[in-house]
Amino acid sequence: MNVLVIGGGGREHAIADAMARSKQDTTMFAVMSKKNPGIAGLCRDFLLASETDVGKVVDYARSKNIDVAVIGPETPLAAGLADALSDAGIGVAGPKKAVAQIEFDKAWARNFMKEHNIAGCPDFKVFTDENGLNAFIAKLGSVAIKPAGLTGGKGVKVMGDQLPDIGSAVVYAAKLLEHGSVVVEEKLIGEEFTVQAFVDGKSLAFAPSVQDHKRIFEGDLGPNTGGMGSYTDAGILLPFLAEDDLKQAKQIMVDTVRALHEETGVPYQGILYGQFMLTKDGPKVIEFNARFGDPEAMNVLPLLETDFVDVVSAIANGTLADLDVRFSERATVCKYAVPKGYPDNPTKDSEVIVGDIGDAILLYSSVYEKDNRVYTTGSRAVAVVGIADTIADAEAIAQNALDNIKGDLQSRRDIGTAELVQKRIDHMKEIRGN
Ligand code: AMP
Ligand code: GLY
Repeated sequence: MNVLVIGGGGREHAIADAMARSKQDTTMFAVMSKKNPGIAGLCRDFLLASETDVGKVVDYARSKNIDVAVIGPETPLAAGLADALSDAGIGVAGPKKAVAQIEFDKAWARNFMKEHNIAGCPDFKVFTDENGLNAFIAKLGSVAIKPAGLTGGKGVKVMGDQLPDIGSAVVYAAKLLEHGSVVVEEKLIGEEFTVQAFVDGKSLAFAPSVQDHKRIFEGDLGPNTGGMGSYTDAGILLPFLAEDDLKQAKQIMVDTVRALHEETGVPYQGILYGQFMLTKDGPKVIEFNARFGDPEAMNVLPLLETDFVDVVSAIANGTLADLDVRFSERATVCKYAVPKGYPDNPTKDSEVIVGDIGDAILLYSSVYEKDNRVYTTGSRAVAVVGIADTIADAEAIAQNALDNIKGDLQSRRDIGTAELVQKRIDHMKEIRGN
């Protein structure tokens, strides 16, 4: 079988690693915009091209007789790559544009949730001009302001975090309106968690839940990033997440997949990522993504016991119900090393030197290889994953690995530590009043 990985980041390195573990006779190919040394080392051949250059990617896939392609990032989904590959007779794990909209148009996503009565939708309104903006923000009192389009996780601002008061929320929303629609929604209060599922159009197979850490600095301070690190507990729950909470979140995703098909006539085939806020009233939807999370993919893919090539084929063929999708019940901690100054003024083109990382898994992200050396690009550089029976042991493995990676880099020591995990548990207890 010939398989194609599209994308060149840490998430795609984790996807390629999972493919490489397959027991089947597979040959791997990749399309990426920069040479990711981790992915390149696992492939028979790769094409350096923009992942959104649909024509080029399809031509390459045809020339390599690809049986099935996995699309890692959201930008090629928004460009219609899944549609084009499918039209060319190539199997795809990655949703078509009509249903990937759930990620790349946040205004469409909220209206869709409301129309289909999907549970967990916060109070919201979509604005195309300033008419009524002031009054709605004042009515909600505490809000999140979101540009409708894709911004790489950096366009959302929340009151109490990046926006000090109602006045600044109005000013920010008005500024965003110069570039397109804006979603104003109720600020959700609680703990965030991520649920990812393989979806074949009808059936969902869920991965263990994950908690990401968006802020750049320890103690959840500073600007938002793409995600500085994440953890899973041994099993499907998180230390602050009860079985019933997860059940509700999964039901929201099941209902969403069904409603997406009803709304568009297109079955959702790919990975669905639900980002939830666990509030005092249960899980609410912060957003959906039409792909694995980065870093959340790095937590769950190494735990996958089922052959990933079988999973990907089942997604493309609509046969997921016939497959027993299993994850091992171990804890994981993933931590990113990012350039100093990231995300606002990152250093670039500085060498990353990987020493002895022990038992950790190393995933290259936004780096490039030149003359057998690896350099940063300005975005998240390399991630390490520790796997163990407890979060604490997994954290120690990941932190030890990070301590042995040298360069003009920074990271968060606190992710996965007992202290920070306890803070999450205490926060949730406080919110639920017990
Ligand atoms: P997003 O780009 O939609 O993932 O949003 C970035 C971050 O903004 C999320 O990880 C949340 O921390 C925060 N956020 C987004 N929407 C809300 C909301 N309605 N209430 C509170 N926080 C939010
Ligand atoms: N880690 C958040 C995301 O991938 O969107």
